[in-house]
Amino acid sequence: MSFHSADGAGEVLPDYLRTVYNWAYLTPWLASLLDRQVVVQAILWGNAQKLIDEVLSEIGPGQSVFQPAAVYGDFSRQVAGAIGDRGRLEVRDIAPLQVNLTRRKLADLPQAHVAWGDAGAPAETAPFDRVACFFLLHEVPDDMKKRIAAAMLSLVAPGGKAVFVDYHRPRRWHPLKPLMRKVFERLEPFAFGLWEREIEAWAGPLAEDFTWRKRTRFGGLYQVVVAERRP
Ligand SMILES: C[S@@+](CC[C@H](N)C(=O)[O-])C[C@H]1O[C@@H](n2cnc3c(N)ncnc32)[C@H](O)[C@@H]1O
Repeated sequence: MSFHSADGAGEVLPDYLRTVYNWAYLTPWLASLLDRQVVVQAILWGNAQKLIDEVLSEIGPGQSVFQPAAVYGDFSRQVAGAIGDRGRLEVRDIAPLQVNLTRRKLADLPQAHVAWGDAGAPAETAPFDRVACFFLLHEVPDDMKKRIAAAMLSLVAPGGKAVFVDYHRPRRWHPLKPLMRKVFERLEPFAFGLWEREIEAWAGPLAEDFTWRKRTRFGGLYQVVVAERRP
C-alpha cells in the first residue's frame, strides 16, 4: 500500500517530466512567469480562450469536474466559474510545484480542490459528470497516453463526458506545420503521437462504451474530442 501526501512532497517525478519538461513545470521562477493567460494565449497562437470556451460549452452549473493536470493561466478558474459554488472541481497534478501554484490560484473558490495525483493511475473512483483533459496527452510518452486516456474514461459517470483538447495533425498546407514540427522535435517530442493516432484509439477497449465527436480548430492544429458515456 502506498500513501500520498496531498501536495505530493516526496513523490518521485516521472522521467519524461524531469528530462523533457523540467524547464516548463519544475523550475519555480520560470513556472511563475509562464503561469499567465497571456503566455498561454501566445503559445496557442491566440486560440487559448476559444479552446477553453469549447470546454466550457460542455460544462454546466452544479456539475462535478475532474481535471487531471494543472493548466497555466486561468483555465481552472473559468471551469470553477462555469460549475458555480454548487459544483465541484477536482484538480490533480503530478508535480508538487504545480499543485502549490494551482492551489494558490484557486484559493478563493471553495468548489475547487487541488491535490497531488497521477493522471495515469488516479486514486479517485467516484464518477464525475465531466473530465476536462486540456493539453496533457501531447506532453506524455505514448504508453502514458494510453494509461491516461483509459483512466480518464473510467472516471466518467454514465451519461457524462470526457473532453480532451490537444494538438492534432494540421492540414497539409498549414503554414505553421513546418514550424510546429520543429518545435515538437526540439521541445515536445511526445506530441507527434497525436498527429499519428486518434485519441479514441489511445483509450483502449473502454472507448467502445462511449460515443465520440471530434472537431478540429485552426486548420487542424488543435482538436476538441468529446467522449460521451452511454447511459
Ligand atoms: C496539462 S499539461 C500542459 C498544459 C498547457 N501546456 C498549459 O497551458 O499549462 C501540464 C501539466 O501536466 C502535469 N503532468 C504531467 N504528467 C502528469 C501526470 N501523469 N499526472 C498528472 N499531471 C501530470 C505537469 O506537471 C504540468 O503541470
